[in-house]
Amino acid sequence: MAQQPHHEAAGERRDDAARLLRQLEVCADHGDITAAVYDRFFAIHPEAAAMFEAAPGAGPITQGRMLAYVLDLLVDQASGQSYVPELLRSVRQDHVGYGAIDLGFYADFLAALADVVHGVLGSAWQPADTMAWDRMRVQLLAGLAA
Ligand code: HEM
Repeated sequence: MAQQPHHEAAGERRDDAARLLRQLEVCADHGDITAAVYDRFFAIHPEAAAMFEAAPGAGPITQGRMLAYVLDLLVDQASGQSYVPELLRSVRQDHVGYGAIDLGFYADFLAALADVVHGVLGSAWQPADTMAWDRMRVQLLAGLAA
């Protein structure tokens, strides 16, 4: 039978949203992941820590809000919400002012986030979780690059 890549992709995206929400529920039972995510990210990019310190609204609250925003975006993107591409363009523009110009920052932030979620899930993490994160990362980075 002929494959229908478009429909398959949409189905995968919906599954990714459900999978991510399940992962986040497990994380929520273990406490706040915010500090762990930023510690990991700043260990790779100490210069990013300086960007957060230099920003007008600097502090853990802003970092928490940004993380919540990223997670919402990942869920909404995976659910195929139509507002996401335009929003990603404006995120990219806003972040030029913070100094986060290189897309590598975003890739590494998402990798740090996925690693922390993976660490919390431990043995409950499945190969499909890795595949879902790979898809979500590729999509988000493509949206930021557009
Ligand atoms: C992965 C996608 C990302 C999204 C969707 C995103 C979104 C946001 C949003 C919505 C805010 C405003 C938070 C608020 O004040 O309520 C913010 C702030 C900020 N973001 Fe991001 N961000 C992303 C990645 C990054 C990366 C990779 C960096 C690298 C350094 C970065 C650096 C900053 C900085 C420095 C602020 C300053 C906040 C302040 O005013 O203190 N962001 N981000």
